[in-house]
Amino acid sequence: MSSTPFDLVIRQARVATASDVFEADIAITDGRIVQVGHGIAGGVREIDARGRVVTPGGVDAHCHLDQPMPSPMRMADDFDTGTRAAACGGTTTVIPFAAQEKGQSLRAAVDDYHRRAKGKAHIDYTFHLIVSDPTEDVLTRELPELIQEGYTSFKIYMTYDDLKLDDGQILDVLSVARAHGAMAMIHAENADCIAWLTKKLESVGRTAPRFHAHSRPMLVEREATHRAIALAELVDVPILIVHVSGREAVEQIRWARAHGLQVFAETCPQYLFLTAEDLGIDDSYQGASCVCSPPPRDKKNQEVIWNGLIDGLFTVFSSDHAPFCMDGTEGKRPDGQEVKFSHIPNGIPGIETRLALLYSEGVLGGRLTLEKFVELTSTNPAKAYGLHPRKGTIAPGSDADLVIWDEGEFKITNDRLHHAVDYTPYEGMTLKAWPGLTLAGGEVVWDGRDFHARSGQGRFLTCGKPTLRAPRA
Ligand code: URP
Ligand code: ZN
Ligand code: ZN
Repeated sequence: MSSTPFDLVIRQARVATASDVFEADIAITDGRIVQVGHGIAGGVREIDARGRVVTPGGVDAHCHLDQPMPSPMRMADDFDTGTRAAACGGTTTVIPFAAQEKGQSLRAAVDDYHRRAKGKAHIDYTFHLIVSDPTEDVLTRELPELIQEGYTSFKIYMTYDDLKLDDGQILDVLSVARAHGAMAMIHAENADCIAWLTKKLESVGRTAPRFHAHSRPMLVEREATHRAIALAELVDVPILIVHVSGREAVEQIRWARAHGLQVFAETCPQYLFLTAEDLGIDDSYQGASCVCSPPPRDKKNQEVIWNGLIDGLFTVFSSDHAPFCMDGTEGKRPDGQEVKFSHIPNGIPGIETRLALLYSEGVLGGRLTLEKFVELTSTNPAKAYGLHPRKGTIAPGSDADLVIWDEGEFKITNDRLHHAVDYTPYEGMTLKAWPGLTLAGGEVVWDGRDFHARSGQGRFLTCGKPTLRAPRA
């Protein structure tokens, strides 16, 4: 046995993984976990974690940072502020999106996104691709090459004019995923129904933020979810439906699972903690702060989402952090104007609050086991996107990305958060837990009070193939 002390030993932690909760010491050297067990030898530094839960650092597999937007809109968070906020909320790996604009090569989108991230990230990161223009060259050369290089997941959209694919294009792109073993993420909402409803609403002056929810009712998500499943079945390829908001989409996914299809599903905090009323009960513009797609539904749908988290319907729990300010000209008031709902940038911030919301209301609220919490927030996202076991677990050989939890009373106020967005949808909520310490690659990046990381400390990760199977319903 070596007499060289470990860099760091965490003592008497209540270690939580996706399969077990047990008491142990954790030894770390050179940024990696090297031992987990009892009576581990000394470290240069030691942390007493007696009685405290230690989980793997969160993997936020769906967040948007510095994604190019049509002018005048701009995302408030870049790789500096976005990864800082993530670390302070216990997340140690982020997977935002290198988005292809129509007419742009996928490679150009990836190169541009690397430039945006370079030297800025405080925690490790990788990219999903967004495929919006599946030309012959993209399908036969660019996408296969990029998958080969370690960009093994991509998102496709069934809505948004600048991003959406038609069914034939979706089949083409899914065929590439099948041939090369990539994970396809699908934003499932029916674009034509949304456009038709939007026109009807606007023609009678229903333009306030709350009508965003009326323009995207559950059935447009249900129909698109069903269609996405059918297209994937035709190609015989696994898919992951992102940001599932309520019962009717959940039913489609249960049906697919019951038929043996490999359909994975993601949900997000906004579908547990917000409702359509947060978009406004009158025509006030404040509701723009909660405009996102699909929109939050109602209390009954929140229960359906909780049940899906408990019973294994959902594979991953992501933030879908899409950071736009309320004030200023680049966010929810483009050019400083209170615009029609259809012109409000979609998305809400949540990269820092994701884990604490689920830990507090799920684990400490008695709904979720600690193992399930870890599976949804860290292990499964790492497996779905080819990062496991480097990420997503606490085991010898894994990166020393860890969260030590504090329990108590924690009130969410935007001035305590670290993103660059000027609001949080969860303002005033009191939680029962918050990350007391975040370690990324063995270094303390958040100590419960202060943020310590250096810009550029985060490394770009190439991804392997997904290693996940959906349970049969
Ligand atoms: O409204 C949302 N979810 N905005 C972010 C983009 C997306 O579709 O995930
Ligand atoms: Zn989406
Ligand atoms: Zn998103």
